[in-house]
Amino acid sequence: MLVRNKMQAIPLTKLPTLESLPLQGKRVLLRLDLNDGGVAYSTQAMPYRLQASLPTLEYLLAQGARVAILTHRGRPQGKVVPELSNQALLPALQAAVGQPVEFIPDCIGRMAQQAMAHLPPGKVLLLENTRFHLAEQLNQQPFATALAQLGDILVNEAFASAHRIQASTNALAALLPTLFGRQFMRELWWLEQWKSSPSPRAVLVGGHAVLPKLELLQHCLHGPTKAEVLLLGGVVGPTFLAAKDHDLRYTRVDFDAVEVARNLLAEAGVLGCRVHLPRDFTVANWQTPALAQGIRKPYRLTADETAQDLGPDTLQIWQKILRSTPSVLWFGSVGMWQHEAFQTGTELLAQALLSRPHLVQAGAQAGVVLLAGNGLMQALHNSGRAGPLAAAGVALSTAGGALQHALTGHPFPVVQAALQQAQPHEKGSN
Ligand code: 3PG
Repeated sequence: MLVRNKMQAIPLTKLPTLESLPLQGKRVLLRLDLNDGGVAYSTQAMPYRLQASLPTLEYLLAQGARVAILTHRGRPQGKVVPELSNQALLPALQAAVGQPVEFIPDCIGRMAQQAMAHLPPGKVLLLENTRFHLAEQLNQQPFATALAQLGDILVNEAFASAHRIQASTNALAALLPTLFGRQFMRELWWLEQWKSSPSPRAVLVGGHAVLPKLELLQHCLHGPTKAEVLLLGGVVGPTFLAAKDHDLRYTRVDFDAVEVARNLLAEAGVLGCRVHLPRDFTVANWQTPALAQGIRKPYRLTADETAQDLGPDTLQIWQKILRSTPSVLWFGSVGMWQHEAFQTGTELLAQALLSRPHLVQAGAQAGVVLLAGNGLMQALHNSGRAGPLAAAGVALSTAGGALQHALTGHPFPVVQAALQQAQPHEKGSN
């Protein structure tokens, strides 16, 4: 696995933002990332990604822009999949902007053009899932050209997609003047903060997907932003326990990742990085996964049990670490928070962050706390912890894959392109 030893700082002030162009009366294509993987938003009061984009949307409307929202949902691979229609976003969007929003059942074509032509300043419409066109994911120019016919300006507020090369973010940016939204800029700033965060650093990695997290863990050991402490939860924790030959019965383990996990544990030992694996779990019977049936040490699960959350001994130790380590990155959920019985782990760890004596208001010198991952964000929003954490100065990223991409030293193509466009302009003005 390649570890990038240098991470280029992103010159944030060179990126065009909402203030860079007059917006009154302009047709703005607002590219959001409201991807929920296909879980209908209408069940939630306000989806967190929409909430994070609201300051940008409200600013555009207040400036008198005529706004068309572009977003993808799920991975329909160029097919029209009714469950992935953006129409599911409409109730939450209308409630958020406090005005009726027209839904257009395609994101290109005559109907969209006409709707845009008749849209008054300060009003918004919602276009259909961009990924219903295969050309979106193939970053194809003709599709971007069709999108460009709808707008004068592109506003990119889709930070969670910054690692993707897609027509509505990348090819379109070459056709229209592109500005970055408030949340996009905030996320880049948080990333820069993390890159220069003071050590010691604790990195808690959880969530469901293990393989993509291995590169992040590798970077935590060898990269420029080294972690002194690793805490492994979610499916990652049991996978690393399996690498130490624990049989966790029905608990989800990614066996494809076990070999690399074993090597990472050995490397961490040599490098002096402390790795904390779960010491105990709250478990369920695999046939009744929503019901807690006790606390078990990793070697004490019975044949029909599955680990669903961290146990009290583990939580006590991890809470102490999160409270006292200056810089914390928490990436991915720790327990099966979708079931009420297994929300304790996330709750108590979030509580620990809230009770840090210094937190981050004093800036990067005092420490940086960055939280990310779709599951973790949903858990924190559902439990009402997100607001207090944000107010306390904790950075709540809307991204999963995009942040991981950047934390492992990969550049964002959309940002690079914008910086390159800024350069000749700068030279010319000298
Ligand atoms: C995300 O939710 O991480 C982004 O929307 C990217 O989704 P993708 O992994 O399907 O491209």
